[in-house]
Amino acid sequence: MGLPDPSTLSRRDYLRALVAAGGTAALAACVDAPGDTSVPAGDPTERPPRQHAWNGVLRADDDGNPQSPEHHVLLALELSATITQETREQVEMALRSLESAYAYDPAGLLFTVGYTSSYFERVGSDSPVPEPETMTTLESPEFDDFDAIVHLASDNPEVVLEAEEALFGEVSPNGAKMDATFEGVFERGEPRRTGFIGPGLPAEHTDMPEVPDSIPEDAPFFMGFRSGFAESQAPESRVTIQEGPYSGGTTTHIESLTLQLETWFEQDNHFQRVAKLFSPEHAMDERVGEIGKKLERETGVAGEIAERTEQDARELGTVGHAQKAARERDEDGAPPLLRRDFNTTDNGTPGVHFLAHQRRIADFARVRQAMAGEDIAGEGVGKRLNNGILQYVFVRRRGNFIIPPRDNRALPAD
Ligand code: HEM
Repeated sequence: MGLPDPSTLSRRDYLRALVAAGGTAALAACVDAPGDTSVPAGDPTERPPRQHAWNGVLRADDDGNPQSPEHHVLLALELSATITQETREQVEMALRSLESAYAYDPAGLLFTVGYTSSYFERVGSDSPVPEPETMTTLESPEFDDFDAIVHLASDNPEVVLEAEEALFGEVSPNGAKMDATFEGVFERGEPRRTGFIGPGLPAEHTDMPEVPDSIPEDAPFFMGFRSGFAESQAPESRVTIQEGPYSGGTTTHIESLTLQLETWFEQDNHFQRVAKLFSPEHAMDERVGEIGKKLERETGVAGEIAERTEQDARELGTVGHAQKAARERDEDGAPPLLRRDFNTTDNGTPGVHFLAHQRRIADFARVRQAMAGEDIAGEGVGKRLNNGILQYVFVRRRGNFIIPPRDNRALPAD
């Protein structure tokens, strides 16, 4: 991928485009870009035992909802060595070097390391996660069949680029030393995925033919609304595995989607968008506001509105995405998924890398099936039409990963 042209982009969008391009040339351009680039160093002993424990250090918005870091890289890895005490120590040392280089903070680096069922097959161990599979009748995705993944996240674009290169021995991270790298143990796999999240960032992409000018200026997500309200997210403890060798870890499902934004913004109006994303009740009662500010920390879809999904389909001819998904809350009302999805323009089209943590992949599957709403298709709504946001989202890839606890994150096996 060529480097973006700084003269045609805003500074923020230029930096985001450099993360998407990746590599040492993009990193050098990022370092050269004007702006404050001081990054706090870290201490591995300050990191918690759960790799997915990010909430304690995330910034909160004005309403107290945790905010994901702005820049993300999903680095696919292929195992190229056998598991020995030495290779394990090498991987652990490489990860610890990153933890020394960058603070455990969105201004530094947050990351997780995960493994696929292909990895466990290759090393001759039982896999704690199933192979990815098709989850609905509307999709025929590709599957993540590489061995491992590193999810790098930071508010600083230079950090995600530099951490990635440092793992392969190309650069020193934040001026620090890598005591070891992935070289000889992991090779880069495909695909390399990137993304971003933050108020105003989606609206900077109206130069792409698929991103309409009518996208709200300050929306943090491509679909034009805030997402990830605190009340609709699983607490980290809820997605943490409670027993067995991965106790203290979690699972990740990554669903990569492309978006059809022209119809969403140009054929539908705000009322329809609110009805399809939240619920018809949200649209009729004007509960949401332009981009979701009115909701503060809670959508209010759980309970009565979720229970009315089938009735809304029959009587109103539209159901909301959040309304359908909330049907699969746990018995005590807690949401089973901790969503850490982000926007992307990988492959030159707007999309979402929908990354979610949950205790078991089966938890993701049941919520995803509730979102698919196949039970109500033909009962006033279509398979896609007016059935939440299904008319606008297209599943391209799926992957399942175990995220071991931090002390077992380097080449786990039985
Ligand atoms: C482009 C894709 C998507 C967009 C734009 C989107 C957007 C939203 C929005 C705006 C909400 C309500 C606000 C909130 O986040 O609390 C929501 C809720 C939710 N979404 Fe999505 N979503 C997408 C894909 C998915 C996928 C693939 C899943 C997988 C199962 C999913 C599961 C959920 C769940 C579980 C909730 C919370 C329901 C509850 O309150 O219990 N979403 N989504």
